[in-house]
Amino acid sequence: MALPQRVKIVEVGPRDGLQNEPQSIDAAVKVELIERLGNAGLPVVEAGAFVSPKWVPQMAASAEVLTGIRRREGVSYPVLVPNMKGLEAALAAGAEEIAVFGAASESFSQRNINCSIAESLERFRPVIEGATAQGLRVRGYVSCVLGCPYEGAIAPEAVARVSAELYRMGCYEISLGDTIGTGTPLKAQRMVETVAQDIPMERLAAHFHDTYGQALANLYAVMGLGIATVDSSVAGLGGCPYAKGASGNVATEDVVYLLDGLGIDSGVDLERLAATGRWISDKLGREPTSKVARALAARAGA
Ligand code: HMG
Ligand code: MG
Repeated sequence: MALPQRVKIVEVGPRDGLQNEPQSIDAAVKVELIERLGNAGLPVVEAGAFVSPKWVPQMAASAEVLTGIRRREGVSYPVLVPNMKGLEAALAAGAEEIAVFGAASESFSQRNINCSIAESLERFRPVIEGATAQGLRVRGYVSCVLGCPYEGAIAPEAVARVSAELYRMGCYEISLGDTIGTGTPLKAQRMVETVAQDIPMERLAAHFHDTYGQALANLYAVMGLGIATVDSSVAGLGGCPYAKGASGNVATEDVVYLLDGLGIDSGVDLERLAATGRWISDKLGREPTSKVARALAARAGA
């Protein structure tokens, strides 16, 4: 198993994490969170989502957040965009990178973005073209790659079809979302191998939620196939408002600890990251779900 020497971590906490929080969070807190994450060495920090505020109220202030960040050289701040209206708003707020988000499951597509998979792809086409013409980079997400809350098992071939379509349309990277965290290592490998028949491995990212505690095992399995981009969320914040029971993304602290232990470079400072995780968890009045964060806090207190 040849593990990568370097892994790029895409920090999704300020978007995937906070989109599911019941309480309202000030834009200033989000801005500070994003800046702290950049200072901890994260090269990509997803900053928000230009979606309907009726669907996801927590992301309503994304323009204020994106314009409020003191951008750090070398860090990108992508935002989710579901349609042309979202693209216009993202451009007005100075976005340099966006992400469109589709699904490998019809039912999830309907619940999440109110259209079929085929309709979503037609909707994304002008978004990707328009963004690319303006010099923006476009990432593509595919949800439910290892299971759907409404349909159960999803065939790897269905994941590969949507992924290949988004890649052909111009997405530079395809992020494979185990939205409800039901995947296990061999299934994750089979899915990645199937998708990688059409897309170079270095263009794929693993976006695993940790609902069943399998995310680190799944990441280790797919890194062994050559996956070198990993999405994660500080303190394990997160979930998806349209995936009942989905808990947070795999915690960034846990991923960095794993990578450090394997001698894989991520450029992230674990101490600064863990301090940021504690800070945002305090603001939200909760404990980090990250085991590494808890262990570090216990050691510091001992
Ligand atoms: P719709 O209702 O079909 O859209 O929703 P519509 O075009 O008919 O518009 C309805 C209303 O929304 C109108 O307002 C529009 O102006 C407004 P009204 O006239 O009623 O006042 N609207 C917008 N407002 C702001 N920004 C926009 C926008 N578009 C329309 N961009 C739509 C379709 C896609 C908009 C809606 O379903 C939506 O916003 N969905 C987003 C759901 C979402 O954000 N889910 C979470 C992110 S995905 C995720 O977490 C998974 C991921 O992490 C990977 C994984 O883990 O699997 C990425
Ligand atoms: Mg997600």
